[in-house]
Amino acid sequence: MAIQRYRSCYRSRKITSSKRCTLWLSFILFVLVLLLIISYFQTSIYQSFQELDDSIIYKKPWYLLHKQKVLVPVSINRLYDYRVVCDGQSEILNQTELVNRLSTVCKINLNGSLNINLNPPNDFQLRSSLTSKYINLWRASNSCSIFENETLAIIISYRDREKNLKMLLYNLIPFLERQRIRNYKIFIIEQQASGSFNKGRLYNVAFNHLMRTSKPTCVIFHDVDLIPENGQNLYSCLSLTHHPLHMSANIHFDINGSYTTIYSFLVGGVLAMRPETFIRLNGYSNRYFNWGGEDDDMGLRFLSKDICVQRPTTGYYYAAFHSIQTRNPNRFKLLFDATLRQDSDGLNNIDQLASVKHQYEYPLVTWITVEWIEQDYSSVVPKKQT
Ligand SMILES: *[C@@H]1O[C@H](CO)[C@@H](O)[C@H](O)[C@H]1NC(C)=O
Ligand SMILES: *[C@@H]1O[C@H](CO)[C@@H](O)[C@H](O)[C@H]1NC(C)=O
Ligand SMILES: *[C@@H]1O[C@H](CO)[C@@H](O)[C@H](O)[C@H]1NC(C)=O
Ligand SMILES: *[C@@H]1O[C@H](CO)[C@@H](O)[C@H](O)[C@H]1NC(C)=O
Repeated sequence: MAIQRYRSCYRSRKITSSKRCTLWLSFILFVLVLLLIISYFQTSIYQSFQELDDSIIYKKPWYLLHKQKVLVPVSINRLYDYRVVCDGQSEILNQTELVNRLSTVCKINLNGSLNINLNPPNDFQLRSSLTSKYINLWRASNSCSIFENETLAIIISYRDREKNLKMLLYNLIPFLERQRIRNYKIFIIEQQASGSFNKGRLYNVAFNHLMRTSKPTCVIFHDVDLIPENGQNLYSCLSLTHHPLHMSANIHFDINGSYTTIYSFLVGGVLAMRPETFIRLNGYSNRYFNWGGEDDDMGLRFLSKDICVQRPTTGYYYAAFHSIQTRNPNRFKLLFDATLRQDSDGLNNIDQLASVKHQYEYPLVTWITVEWIEQDYSSVVPKKQT
């Protein structure tokens, strides 16, 4: 409409004489200036997220609410109240039925209690062939036919945590053997790139690599410092429908001995799902460096794809102690446009960012080293989303 008016003004060559035309032109000019001002403010507000820190995030929610109107598809200040767990009955996954089936079909009697051993013996070495003696010691006589069609991959992201990793494996392997899950493999995905740690990238690289090689039917993404405490916490996707399983909802810290029940939004720690679900989510984000954020980003991915998680009744873990990690100061900024980035940041662009360097086979684990293809871009301001 306005453009037609402008054209007719132009054609009649009465721009200076006609009052109407002047009015229309100034109106168009006004709109243009307004758009410019709006886009300027959007940019500058976005850049100011750089300066956000935890004190603002938690103590000034109104500040975020204000910002959120402009750019954020989700309300970050209420992030931790979001429900990622399924509603009603399906919130909890009761493993009792499967445990009972194991008992009737394979005569496996799994009681819940487990003795965690925090001090592996000195000859329990991650990359030594001598360690196979422990596998032989733990190896159950036969696997259970219930798991015969499942190929399980346990993926552990890793760098510089040898003590934690030994402690985990020393407990995890006999735990799996007791469940008679034989068709499993443990993959240690080690970041060899220097610079900040990036768990999301390691998980994505590992996943794509495994889908090309061992083709698991169930994947479990596992933090290196969490040790399962309940023998009935079955490491399997058999009882899952399409819902992923957040296994580590109750964590027991050795600092104060109490259990912390995780907020309803969290999906970090130990997360099991079928590969098709992980592909639908486009994996993890590749952009979170250092500690924190990539799991909450995953929570948002679940929400935006309308996928809810279940939590098993047996999901109790012991959190092994380690030194405090460097926090990611960018994490809240990244969470603001997490769902907008979801389909372009994850499994489908990891091949441009990172690659598998070597794969080594040891008695305990398959060890995969990963390096970055491109530079660390964690400090680059994300492109403005409109
Ligand atoms: C799980 O289901 C069994 C019956 O199948 C029931 O006896 C048990 O109480 C349930 N456990 C929980 C924690 O709901
Ligand atoms: C539970 O099972 C473990 C290993 O199978 C066994 O050592 C332990 O005695 C059992 N505990 C109870 C209370 O039955
Ligand atoms: C495994 O797959 C085969 C072939 O599809 C099927 O006959 C068998 O019942 C399956 N086993 C289990 C435990 O589901
Ligand atoms: C125990 O320690 C953990 C980790 O520091 C903390 O999150 C939790 O709130 C603590 N619980 C109590 C009861 O102090």
